[in-house]
Amino acid sequence: MSYGYSGTKVVSFSSGKGGVGKTSLVANLGSLWASRGKKTLIIDADWTLGKLGIAMGVRPQWTVEKVLSGQIALMDALEKVSENLYLLASPSGLLGFEELDETCRNQLYFEIENLHDQFDLILLDHSSGLHSSVTAFAAAAHQHVVVTTSEPTSYTDAYAIMKILSQKYSVREFWLIVTMSHNSLETDKIMGRFMDVARSQLDVRVKLLDIFPWEPRLSEAIRKQKAFTSLFPKDAFTGKLTDICRKMDDSPLSKNHGLRFFYGSMTEKTA
Ligand SMILES: Nc1ncnc2c1ncn2[C@@H]1O[C@H](COP(=O)(O)OP(=O)(O)OP(=O)(O)O)[C@@H](O)[C@H]1O
Ligand SMILES: [Mg+2]
Repeated sequence: MSYGYSGTKVVSFSSGKGGVGKTSLVANLGSLWASRGKKTLIIDADWTLGKLGIAMGVRPQWTVEKVLSGQIALMDALEKVSENLYLLASPSGLLGFEELDETCRNQLYFEIENLHDQFDLILLDHSSGLHSSVTAFAAAAHQHVVVTTSEPTSYTDAYAIMKILSQKYSVREFWLIVTMSHNSLETDKIMGRFMDVARSQLDVRVKLLDIFPWEPRLSEAIRKQKAFTSLFPKDAFTGKLTDICRKMDDSPLSKNHGLRFFYGSMTEKTA
């Protein structure tokens, strides 16, 4: 027996540590998924320091703050980026909106629930840190991608977020993306040991999605406010991102997911 979808799949990208490449991955994967015909919504879950609008080269008219203050409905706050690709933007450094408290989080959680069936995919791009604004939202996703580099300071934080999600919210399955690698063999060894420790200590399943090399042209893409995948469509880095889309599309979901957006969209399938 395996579990699949009818309806929207929510994928969360978290890391604990900041600056490891989450936003770059989400912007590029979103763009690829959209070009593959999946209607995709990216939610900038860096609620108070939103940057996805800049990264994706759009100037959203509305941000999540206007939704939470009741000035606009969530559906009307979405900015169309390109064919099949939408963004729910967050404000940056807005006075009076320095953190998303529990009431706001719950309100947003229910607003997002109402998007059921409007999108094939929703990608959550979290901020760094381990606070509830990150974990409570990440916990409700169907699939959990944890992004890390092979530096101890980074994978220690990746371990910490997996620990909170597994022990507090019963998330049992994680995908790992390793970024900014300068030596893929060495990175593979380090991350192999890391995954062994996480599996045995946390009793979770951890699958390595891929190791991405250090790629200076990613900052060039940000400077140009374009997706790397559209600037360099034939590049090996774009090929690796496309493989991730395929792997995640093909992967059945396990039943045991703790909290969940769109609970009703999970349907039981016979294998
Ligand atoms: N594989 C990579 N190689 C080189 N530079 C990268 C790579 N991935 C991302 N970067 C660069 O690292 C910087 C941080 O990336 P990004 O904003 O995507 O990280 P983040 O995890 O979203 O950060 P934050 O936690 O602050 O939201 C950017 O300048 C980006 O261009
Ligand atoms: Mg980011």
